[in-house]
Parts: sequence; structure tokens; C-alpha cells
Amino acid sequence: MIDLVRGATFDDFLFNPQYSILERRDPAAIDLTSRFSTGLTLKRPIVSANMDTVTRAEMAIAVAEEGGIGIIDRGFRSGEIEPQVREVEIVKRKQHGVIADPYTITAGASLAEAAARMRTTGVGTLVVVDDRNRLQGLLTARDLRFVDHSQGTVAFRMTPRERLIVQQGTPDLAAAEEVMRARKIKKLPLVDKDGALLGLVTARDLVTQRDLPFATRDAQGRLRVGAAIGAKGDYLERAAELIRAGVDVIVIDIAHGHSLVMARAIDAFRKQCGDAQLVTGNVATSEGVTFLLERGVNGIKVGIGPGGGCTTRLNTSFGVPQVQALVESRGAAGGRVPIIADGGVRRDGALVQALLFGGDTVMLGSALAGTTETPGDIVQKPVVVPESHKTVRVPFKVFRGMASLEAIVDRLDVEDLEAADVEALGAEGMEIAVPLRGSVRPILRDMLKHLCSAISYGGARSLGELQEMFRKDPARYVIRLTDSGRRESFER
Ligand code: XMP
Repeated sequence: MIDLVRGATFDDFLFNPQYSILERRDPAAIDLTSRFSTGLTLKRPIVSANMDTVTRAEMAIAVAEEGGIGIIDRGFRSGEIEPQVREVEIVKRKQHGVIADPYTITAGASLAEAAARMRTTGVGTLVVVDDRNRLQGLLTARDLRFVDHSQGTVAFRMTPRERLIVQQGTPDLAAAEEVMRARKIKKLPLVDKDGALLGLVTARDLVTQRDLPFATRDAQGRLRVGAAIGAKGDYLERAAELIRAGVDVIVIDIAHGHSLVMARAIDAFRKQCGDAQLVTGNVATSEGVTFLLERGVNGIKVGIGPGGGCTTRLNTSFGVPQVQALVESRGAAGGRVPIIADGGVRRDGALVQALLFGGDTVMLGSALAGTTETPGDIVQKPVVVPESHKTVRVPFKVFRGMASLEAIVDRLDVEDLEAADVEALGAEGMEIAVPLRGSVRPILRDMLKHLCSAISYGGARSLGELQEMFRKDPARYVIRLTDSGRRESFER
């Protein structure tokens, strides 16, 4: 296989169609499950890149709700940890299964106080507790309707403890749902054996969980999210704060992951953060993968220079064409640690190539650029329409490599204080303007539909099965294209 792919990337290949056994190419019916890291499985193999023009909370929420995961970038100024932590918190608070810290009030509080608390928190249910956090009752917005708030206390309008259905302990969501269905209730408070409040389950949260069956969630029903850190400067403090905020995976992301700096960073991370899920990169050779694997990481990001905003290869002549990098990396990892194929996916068809040649999941940057969920301002630019020669103003968003001079200057990356370092890094990325394209959700859904079509062409029932069939007999699939074959395939 390696001889076949040396020097090659996505546009150098097509796959032979196989006898199809699928009746429907519907992403809802085809298993696309894949591992992002040793401890984290996704129902969709999509990861949004940790770039400051791609992934902040809004993108991470959309991608997790669609079944993938977003990695919040570290493009904040060194020492400014809190803004990145806040993005993680926004994602973690977006959905609940069990609300572990519901808003509470005491029975002696006035109805006016209760109404004010509902207004400021935006919630319609307050859990009534005593001074030892023991459950006393529930107060809902309905209990306050048509009553004079200037008179009376919460005790006077709440549904008291003895009339509530209450669950002891923290049930799994299916069990909670069963209780709520059988007893026809919308709210289920959870208490410990002494009656102290443990949490609250609401029917509305359970409905949301049902509406998004492929979403990537943790055991408490919250969306999962990752965050990137560097390998120098404030990275350990940043990791500790992100983990405290509930981040599901940390990504140590540097341009050249097969390095002394990375070895030190992984050791220090493990010492401080124990066995928290850790993905590291980037590498593009079997030696690079083995180096990270031996240091006990949970996932490896592969890609040196294929990125849409990247100029590393132009400026240094180092890098590995992405298909070669993936095949080599897969060989070295041997399935012990998942591979994230990072960069170079410019058309939907390249997704299945990344997943067959070696990726367990695929990280996308430029493919998501210009969507509503990306951070950054919209700028209006004059564009000449070729047919009419008229000038129109078109809204654009900026997409840029994280090692572009613009990104570096913005975050004044004090991790590498020496000017020489900054200049060297500045040579490896660029900034481009991308026309606005609307929400990322239909873009992701289209990609997944195309992936399902590819599974059908490949003669498999699921992504996992296609990967297995491909790896058993790659020659059955792989066609190395000639120049004219490439033109016929991809030039339109
Ligand atoms: P795509 O092709 O999806 O790639 O846009 C996203 C990946 O590109 C990498 N990246 C960079 N690589 N200089 C580089 O050499 C840069 O400035 C840069 N910025 C991003 C990164 O791995 C990302 O996930």
C-alpha cells in the first residue's frame, strides 16, 4: 500500500465501485460511528478544527449536535485563560440530561423574590430547599400566575414535597424518562437518602435529547467539547482550568508534534492531569506516530501542511502529502490509538478517502469557513459579476491559518517570545476571505449524505465495515489516477 500512495494525496485517487447491498443511503440508518480518542466515540466522524476563525462555542455546539465534536482553539492571548474556559462552559450548559445544579429558593422567600429569580435566570422552575439543601417543594411560573406577588411566600404557592414524585439517587436518563412517563410528570427532582437535593430532570430536556439522537453527549447528557492548548507558556494552567470547566478532551496542538517540546509537554500534562483524554499532534510519519503512541496519548492528529490556510510546504518544503501521511500513520498506530486526519479536505468526496486511508475521524477547517457558526466579523467586499460586469457588495468572513502573521499578531503569542520564533511561525499560514454560506448544519448533513453514498458504492453496510473491507484488500478499491483521469474526475 505504501508504494501505491507515496507522494500522493486525495485527488490522486478514485475508488472502484463494488456490488451495493444498501437499499437506502440515509445517514439516520447507516452506522457512521468512529473513535475520536481511545475514550471518546462519535456517531459522526467529523471534528471542527481548533482555529480562531472556525471553532468557538457556536460551532462546537452545532458540530456536537450533528454528532461530531468541536475543538475550541487556543487563539486567545497567552495568560488569558478565562475566555477559552467560557466557550467550553457555554457548550457544556447548552443541553442537560440531569441538571446537577438547578436554581433554588427557600420556602420563606417572598413571591416577588421568586418571580425576580425566574426572570433573571430565565428558568420557569425553582426547586425549594431548606438551609441544609433538603428538598421542600417545587415552584413553577404557573404557580405565580394570577397571584399578587407582593403578598405571601414561596411556601404558600409551591407544590410541597409530599405531593411530588421524587427519585432517590441519580438514575440514568432512560430510567428517569420511564418514571416521568408512568407518573405523567414534567419535572423529577432527585434527592439523596437524607432528602438533600441531587439534581432535577425535566421533560423538556429529555425531549431535546430525543430530537437530536446523534448528538455527542457525556454521561450527564451535556454536549461534548474539546479544547486546544499549546506546549509552552500557560498550557498547564490552561489545561487545569479547561478540565475544571468540564472539557471532554484536551488537544495539544503544535505545528511539529514529533519534537522535544512535545515530549516535555506530554510528560508534564500527564503528571498534572492524570489520565484525562489527551490528543496530540501534528505528525505525518510513522516515527512521529510511534513517538506519540509511546508517550501514552489517546489520539493522534495527522497532517503537516495539507491545510487550506497553510503555507508550510511552500515556505519550508517540509511536509507529507496527506494520503501518504495517513497510510503511514495508520500502519504505525495499528488501531491502538485513533487517528484524526487533519487538513486538506476540500470536497466532500475527500472525506471518505481520509477515513479509508487512515483516519478514524476527519478534522475540517476551510470546509467550514464562511458559515454562520464561525467566529469573526462580516466584511462587505465589492465583487464584479462576470456576466454583467456589475459590481455588487458581497458579505465575507475571514479564514486564516493559525500560524498566519495575522493570527499570531492578534494573539501576540507570548509562548514564543523571541521575535525570530514568531517570524518563523508567521511564514506558515495565510489569511483568505470566504463568502458567507449560511449555517454549517446543512453543509455537515450533505457531507454525511455523501459519505453514506460512498459506503453504498463501496459495498458495505457501515463506515466500520467499509474501513475493514478496504484494509483487508486495498487493491480491490484503489485506482491511482493519471493526469487525464484526474482532470476528468475533478475539473469542472
Ligand atoms: P483545512 O484544509 O481543513 O485544514 O483547512 C485545517 C488544518 O490546517 C492546519 N492549520 C495550519 N497549518 N499553518 C499550517 O501549516 C497554519 O497557519 C495553519 N492553520 C491551521 C491545522 O492542522 C488545521 O486543523
